[in-house]
Parts: sequence; structure tokens; C-alpha cells
Amino acid sequence: MNVQDQEAAGSASPLSAAVEERIRAEVGRYPQRRTGLLPALKIAQEETHFLPPPVIARVADMVGVSHASANELVTFYSMLRTKPLGTTVVEVCAQLPCALRGADELLGLLAAALEIEPGDTTPNGAVTLLRSHECFGACNRAPMCVVNDEYRENLRGKALEAFLAEVETAAGLEGQTS
Ligand code: FES
Repeated sequence: MNVQDQEAAGSASPLSAAVEERIRAEVGRYPQRRTGLLPALKIAQEETHFLPPPVIARVADMVGVSHASANELVTFYSMLRTKPLGTTVVEVCAQLPCALRGADELLGLLAAALEIEPGDTTPNGAVTLLRSHECFGACNRAPMCVVNDEYRENLRGKALEAFLAEVETAAGLEGQTS
């Protein structure tokens, strides 16, 4: 069912009217509507935090591409998420300046402490660990990460130990760091 049919049938959209309006405006900027698919999916994700099948289908219909094409794009770009985020989201900046200052080691320690891989959420839905695709503007205070919009910087030595313990507590895995 395309978007016109959905509207005619009165199907409820999984997106708000405001977000749909933003998507229409964004897609309208491109001579070829399908070029607007990636930005449209990003706009949708801002609202829904991840992209479940009904959201992907709605965006695909609005852009005028097949659901399969939209699914393919979502699978390809790791910044587009198909799974819900945890209550606590730990996003480690691993861009080059931070990578040169221990970002990968920090990511590895967090993954080990949480017993998950970067990109995953703990089985209880408490903590998601992400590798950032953008610089947070705190390169001189790396290794660093952002926890639910709060910056955590200079994560070395005792600060790192305390942070790992805090993250384990958030995940319900207290006392596992030695
Ligand atoms: S590169 Fe990591 S904060 Fe800038």
C-alpha cells in the first residue's frame, strides 16, 4: 500500500505530522526524490530513536521507493538503527583524534564490562554501547564519550575505573570490574 492509499484508508502513521512535514520538505529539495531517502530516514529516527519496519515503510512510501530499497539502506548505514536503544546510551567518540588518544581501548573496555559488542544493547535493555560517527568537539579531552547527552572526558586511570563501575551498575552488572 503506498502513502496515498494509506491516507485514503485512514492508516495511522508511525510518525508525527511535524516529522512528516519535515520529511516532505527535505525530499522536495532533491531533483530525484530517492536521493532524499537517507536524510528522510535520519529525520524519522530523530523522533522514533530507531527504525522499526513500519517507520521504514512509511518513509519509503513518502519518498517513493520500495520498502526493500529502504530496508537495504537502513542495513547498510550503521548510524541508522533497527533496534531500540537502552535506557542509558554510551556513545564513544572513535574518530581519528580520539582514536589516537585511546578511544578504541575505551570502547573495548566498555564492551568487556558490559559483555556486549559496540552497537549492541545489554539483554535487559539497560545500556547501549555505540561508536560515534561524529566528533563531539572534545578531542583534546579524549578518550571521551557521551552518556545520554552528558560528556565524560579524560577517561583514564581512576576516572576510567569509576566510569566502568558506573556503567556496570547502570547495566545491573555491579562489581565485575577487578
Ligand atoms: S574526534 Fe573525538 S571528540 Fe573530536
